[in-house]
Formats: sequence, structure tokens, C-alpha cells
Amino acid sequence: MEKFYVTTPIYYVNDRPHIGHAYTTVLADVLARYNRSLGKDTFFLTGTDEHGQKVQNAAEKHGISPQQHCDETVLRFQELWKKLGITCDRFIRTTQAEHKRVVQEVLQDLYDRGEIYKADYTGWYCVGDERFFTEKDLVDGKCPECGREVTAITESNYFFRMSKYQDWLIDHIKNHPDFILPAFRANETLGFLKKPLADLCISRPKSRLSWGIELPFDQDYVTYVWFDALLNYVSGVGYRTDDEKFNRWWPATCELIGKDILTTHTVYWPTMLKAMDLPLPKTIFAHGWWLTGNQKMSKSLGNVVNPMDMIERAGVDAFRYFLMAEMSLGNDANFTEETFISRYNSDLANDLGNLLSRVVKLTIRATGGTIPAASSLNADDQELLDAVKNAVDSMGSSLENYKLDQGIAAALNAVRAGNRYLEKCAPWTLAKNGETERLHTVLSTAANAIFKVAVLLAPVMPEKMSELVTALGGKEMPVIADLASHPGISGWVMNDLPPLFPRIIEEKPEAAPAPKKAEKAPKAEKKSAPEAKAEIPGVITIDDFKRTELRTAKVLKAEKVEGADKLLKLEIELGSEVRQIVSGIAPWYAPEALVGKMIIVVANLQKAKIRGIESNGMLLAAKCGDTLSLITPDKEIDSGILVG
Ligand code: ME8
Ligand code: MG
Repeated sequence: MEKFYVTTPIYYVNDRPHIGHAYTTVLADVLARYNRSLGKDTFFLTGTDEHGQKVQNAAEKHGISPQQHCDETVLRFQELWKKLGITCDRFIRTTQAEHKRVVQEVLQDLYDRGEIYKADYTGWYCVGDERFFTEKDLVDGKCPECGREVTAITESNYFFRMSKYQDWLIDHIKNHPDFILPAFRANETLGFLKKPLADLCISRPKSRLSWGIELPFDQDYVTYVWFDALLNYVSGVGYRTDDEKFNRWWPATCELIGKDILTTHTVYWPTMLKAMDLPLPKTIFAHGWWLTGNQKMSKSLGNVVNPMDMIERAGVDAFRYFLMAEMSLGNDANFTEETFISRYNSDLANDLGNLLSRVVKLTIRATGGTIPAASSLNADDQELLDAVKNAVDSMGSSLENYKLDQGIAAALNAVRAGNRYLEKCAPWTLAKNGETERLHTVLSTAANAIFKVAVLLAPVMPEKMSELVTALGGKEMPVIADLASHPGISGWVMNDLPPLFPRIIEEKPEAAPAPKKAEKAPKAEKKSAPEAKAEIPGVITIDDFKRTELRTAKVLKAEKVEGADKLLKLEIELGSEVRQIVSGIAPWYAPEALVGKMIIVVANLQKAKIRGIESNGMLLAAKCGDTLSLITPDKEIDSGILVG
């Protein structure tokens, strides 16, 4: 049987879990559920990273032992994962005896084989990131990762001969295009590997840090926390403790990480595995960041979104849905309460929830609840069947290509097709006119469409989609693998349950009287406080203008689109985000002339496909007769800056 082994980073145990941690873990869970549903043998590993300076410092501050501190703080992760319906097969903690033993065995083995040696070392240490940097790594004398202060430290330490694997690693990355995804991250790592690779310091003297795994060949040292943590991916599936289990799962199919830990996972980890003589994971996938106001969400910046607030507001499944649907895999996404509520209301309350309740009510009225059989199908029926088939196919390929959001979008398209279908076929009129055969066909086709969409979305919203299937009269949720041969749901008896996704009525900032409880949710609700309206036709208010998000961007890459003379495909940087846009400027600009240029783009434009290529934004240019001129900032300025 085909296998699927997925991992998440193991999170620092003393952090409070926020939406970023929740995102990676829900993503892994959704992938695991999909692969199980497709009939693959699946293992899903997550856990916590419990050694190192930060834990030691926090424990000291609280006057408890580091282990006790870990035992208390780990619960925050375990409880949140339980609440979020995370179906991990194992939750590993790096303070577990078995893991510690494996780390020590690996160290001893590498030491015996000359892969680890002792030397003097001066470095700059960032406590926040638990990492050493060389002088030239520093940015303005500060940590290149987080910008915080670093401390100079000289000491004797043990080193892993990472440098000798540099050429091998470059070859491996080049020869395995699936090894680091998305591809632009592979380029980032290859860029990093252009400089000579240093050996990796893998020890810390106990005099400075005692909370770690002791080196088996020198009791005065503990292991560097990253060396310890990375090994969880193999110790978690039986490496050196259970050969059968290990051989069954290793190498991992997919190791999910955030882009913040790309180097440790695509340079340290593969070279460690090479030295250990183990195969590398098939794919390391680095997703983007959740931002708030275009800054990374992080504890030190104090702008974290607490998942619990959102879960309380809309439920676990809506939260899972939002995370998966909103972030286009690999890119950054912005989290705001407003986008959350508006997506919930439009996709879940209006489209999916509404389709279900219409079909259930109409069927109960027509047959008492039994789902009728369809007779001859016409073009309208066929159109809906095609939309559903497209969703099934698209989900399959989206999963393979790590484009989950697109699979979800295709499922929602099928839902919208379902609502259009009802409008067009008007079963209420068919009922009134006594056209029973056609009425039955329409209800049957619509119910079967919802059923299939529910099966497709079940890995994202397991509880809600089970409720949906129950409303349709089903007993259990079938797996995706059985969908093709499923006989359909005619004969099931529907249940009229409360709405799956009750609309969230937004609290309006200036709402003087308490908002009226809407009996019947109005179709399109105003999203925010009423805005000043422009008086003169054609004149806009400042609020109208502010809806267009213009930002500075830097062109990273530009290339011609094959078969389209006018089009260029650009990769642009918007702050910490990298996006692709397609633009019809080829007649005026050669691709190489654009690289490095600063431009202005409309950043909040709905994504589009141009000649089948995704375009996420639009650049600004002025055209007069035969001349086209790009709009560029007239001074040097960062990318991602709001224009207005
Ligand atoms: O780095 N957006 O742990 P960590 C998206 N212990 N994802 C985010 C995020 C954000 N704003 N913030 C965090 C460590 N994440 C090490 C890992 S693995 C052997 C050791 C997610 O607690 C994302 O997956 O800092 C990121 O890589 C991870 O949390 C970092 O978690
Ligand atoms: Mg971190």
C-alpha cells in the first residue's frame, strides 16, 4: 500500500500556541486526513521542542525545574490540538527518554566515525532563536533572523563536518525538484549554498546551558537544541528502537515547515541525514507566514492572533476552513477578523449552508424527506455534475501539487454551481406545476452534488461535514477513495437540522441600538460601518480609494510567456511575500531590464488566470499611443510599502 508520512516542526514548548502553529498543524492534519481518505497508509507526527536556553530561562524565572516547566506548558499545545481535531499518530516531546537515547546514539556514532570533532570557536549567539551566527551573518550587528541583540561567545565546542556535504547537497537539490517546495524556496537555499558552508557547532558547554541532552562522549557539554530537535523526525517513527516501524515510514513523504526555518531544514537536516547514511525526505514544504498588518505574527512583536477567540466565535471547523482556504500554499496571508467573518459568511453560511438547507426543505416538502431518484438528465443537470466532477479531480491534483486552497476553491465552485442550478431549475415552480418527474431529478441531482462536496471537504471540516451527511440521511462519512463507485444517495431520508453555519452578524462599531436579531438572514449584508457616500457621480470618497491597496514591489524575476507575445510573467517581492503577476508589457520592456526594478502594484486584486498562469496583482503603467511607461517610486524605498 502506498504510504504517506507527514511531519510538522516541533514547536518551542514555552511559547503560547498561536494561529501560525495552528496553521501548520491543521495543514498537516488535513493532508493526513486526505491521504487516509484516499486509502494510503498514513502517519502524522507533531510535538514539542523542549530543550534549550529559552526553556531554562523561563523555568528559572518561575522557580521551577525545566522539566516541570515543560510538563506544564506542553498542555497548551496538546489541549489546542485536541480542540482543533488534530489526528496525529504521535505527539513527540524531545524530553522523552527514547528520543534522548536516540540522539545520544546518533552523536556517538557520528563521533566514532569522525563526523564530529572538537575546536575553539567564537560566535555571536541569539538567545531568541537559539542560534549562533558568524560576524558576517549579522545585520547591523544584530541577529539576522529577528533583529535582536546578540552576544559574543568564545569557547571550545564540538562541530559536525557539515561543510564536506556542500557539493553533494547542491546536487541533491538540483536533481530532486520535489525536495524543496515551492521551487522558489529551493532557489533560496541554493543561493545560501553559494557561499562556502561552515561546519555546524553542535554542542553547548554546560556551564552556560545545562538544559539539553548530554554529549555521550563529553559530560561537560549538552547538544545544540536544533541537532536534538531535527532528529525527532526519525526518532518519532522508531529509528534505532523499532526497525520495522522505521522502515515502514522513513523517509518522510512531506515535512511541513514555515519559511522561518528553511535553512535548518534544507541545509542542516539533509547533511545530518547524509552523515547518518539515511535517505532524505521526499519533500520539505515551506509555507508562508500569517501576517497581521503585513508583519509576521510573533510573540516578540506582540501581534499574535489567539486561535481560541476565533474558534469561540465561529467554531473549530470554520476556523480550520478559513486557514486552509485563505492561505495560498507557499505565500503569506494576512489575518484579520474582517476577512475571517466575511469568508465565513460568504462561503459557509451563504453558499454551502444555504444550498443544504434549501435542498433539505424542498425535499421534505416534495417527498417527506426521501431523496428521489433522477430520471433523464438535461444540460443543466449535466453542468452541475461536471462542476462536481471538476471539484473531485481538482482536489486530487491540488493535493499532489500542494495547492490545497485551489482544491477547496473548486469544491466551493461546485457549491455555487448548485445554488445557480436551483435558481435556474426552480424546483418550487416545478412542484407548483406538478412536474414531478423533473422535480425529482433536480432534487436528486442537487442532493448528490452536496453529498460529494461534503466528502471532499470532510478532511478540512470533519465535524460539520459529518453533520451535513447526517442531514442528508447518511449514517457515516464515506472515504474519497470510494466516491467513484458510490451508488449515490437516492432513498436516504433527510433530517431537517438547525443551520450548519449560522451567519455571523458583525458588531458594528457605531451600532447605537442593539442589532436586531435577523429572522431570515438578508442576502448581502453590509460588512462595515456605513461610509460617507460621494455626492457627485464619478467622484469617489477617500474610503472608496482606500479599498484599492497599492504597494511598492520589487521585480525579482521576469520571463516571457510562451505563446503570448505581449505577456511577461514576473516574480515580485512585497515585503516578506513573493508573488507572481502576469502583465501585458512585453512589447515595451525586455524581461532582463525589469529585474531589480521597483514598481507599484494593486495588491488586493482578486487572483486571475491569464493564459492559464496565475496572476496575483496588477502593476501600474501609463500608456499613451505607442508608449508605455511603468510607474516607479522616485526614491529608493522598501518593497511592500503602502502607497496612498
Ligand atoms: O522554530 N505564520 O519552533 P517555533 C505561519 N522549535 N506559521 C508560523 C508562524 C506564522 N506567523 N509562526 C510560527 C521552532 N509558525 C523550532 C522547530 S523543528 C525540528 C524545530 C509555525 O515554535 C511555522 O510552522 O518557533 C514555523 O516554522 C513554526 O511555527 C515555528 O515554530
Ligand atoms: Mg520561531
